[in-house]
Amino acid sequence: MNPAPAGEILISSDDLSKRVADLGAQISRDYAGKDLVMVGVLRGAVVFIADLLRSLDMSCEIDFMAVSSYGSSSDSSGVVRILKDLDDSITGRDVLIVEDIVDSGLTLNYLMRNLRARDPGSLEVCALLTKPERRRVDVPIRYTGFEIPNTFVVGYGLDHAQQYRHLPFVAELPEDVVPGPGAV
Ligand code: IMP
Ligand code: MG
Repeated sequence: MNPAPAGEILISSDDLSKRVADLGAQISRDYAGKDLVMVGVLRGAVVFIADLLRSLDMSCEIDFMAVSSYGSSSDSSGVVRILKDLDDSITGRDVLIVEDIVDSGLTLNYLMRNLRARDPGSLEVCALLTKPERRRVDVPIRYTGFEIPNTFVVGYGLDHAQQYRHLPFVAELPEDVVPGPGAV
């Protein structure tokens, strides 16, 4: 597939780097001396977690989960299935979920309930993007990169139909491309 060029750039590569550096500094201060495990949510958070990890002033572990929503990629159903679970135990550890974007909040709400049941020492969320207008369930996000309007975005790891993840910026989806069914 050779998708249409992305639409208008919402967040430039430069702005992403600066914000990720700030988040990394803040997380390093907050978690100094703690047993931090960053849990990346596949696949959209891969680019973000890779940059965030390199912006930390401390060592930490990373682990990954993959989940899929039974809804379409543009409208989450809240029914979430675990496709890949964590490799290691998080009991008693300081866990930071790293997400690409929080839309309705349903996916994150499910993930938080699931991980909380494993008795971590602490559980927080770092999301690169959030669309507050779309929220259907209130989820506490400790670290937010950018708030964006109610528009479908791609790039910096975020996809439409598994395309556009390579873009070094965040852009709106081209107007002639309508979000279709797909995994989260
Ligand atoms: P939620 O359960 O509605 O919060 O959906 C969250 C998931 O939907 C995110 O982790 C993304 O994978 C996907 N998603 C939501 N909005 C967008 C978007 O604008 N672009 C790409 N993926 C999105
Ligand atoms: Mg996602």
